[in-house]
Amino acid sequence: MKNLLHVKGSPRGPLSISGQIAQHYLQAYREKHSDARIDEIDLWQEKLPEFDGDAAAAKVSFFGEPAMNAHQRTVYDELVSVFQRFDAADDYLFSVPMWNFGVAYRLKQYIDILSMPGTLFGWDPAVGYIGLLKGKRATAIYTAAIYSPGVPPAYGTDHTSTHFEEWLRFAGITDVAPVTYWASKVLPEPDARFAQACQEARAAALR
Ligand SMILES: Cc1cc2nc3c(=O)[nH]c(=O)nc-3n(C[C@H](O)[C@H](O)[C@H](O)COP(=O)(O)O)c2cc1C
Repeated sequence: MKNLLHVKGSPRGPLSISGQIAQHYLQAYREKHSDARIDEIDLWQEKLPEFDGDAAAAKVSFFGEPAMNAHQRTVYDELVSVFQRFDAADDYLFSVPMWNFGVAYRLKQYIDILSMPGTLFGWDPAVGYIGLLKGKRATAIYTAAIYSPGVPPAYGTDHTSTHFEEWLRFAGITDVAPVTYWASKVLPEPDARFAQACQEARAAALR
């Protein structure tokens, strides 16, 4: 039985364009894996731990900084419990709107919470970072109102998909299907391009 986790990166509920495209993925996924367990984490409703000074202290304690104190150990345990829910999935679906050329801050917070040494990644000075997640697949749905590849710098730059996919690789997730619906407010034929993105989301679910 497959376990899918849908990580909702937009706060816009039913109006979310990335969320609407995600629905096409979910429908196809359910068709293919009728017994799948589907977990959804709405990053805007979920009470995520702050990634504050104690969380940072817990992280750097793995890199020769002082050992965690009792409170930092508790904070660390909370971070690990968020990771365990994430790690329970075989497949991931991420809805990722572009916010100021990067990912929305709740998704960045989630990334920071998950990115702990010993659970998500290892480190070897001789080889660099070692992603510890194995055999997982991801689909990332990227949306933007203005940006599209090849636009002049005044229209923005994509640090959304580049950053997000660097993080997936860092975690060990290398089977990644990107689905993009860029420049919804700028390029012609938005409806046809939206329909194309929905088709690509379906194909990603069925792959
Ligand atoms: C806070 C905020 C920042 C945004 N920043 C950008 C941006 O840098 N570039 C861009 O093309 N669109 C930007 N947009 C537009 C969104 O990326 C676009 O509306 C997208 O479809 C939102 O996805 P959603 O409908 O799933 O929330 C921004 C929207 C918001 C609310």
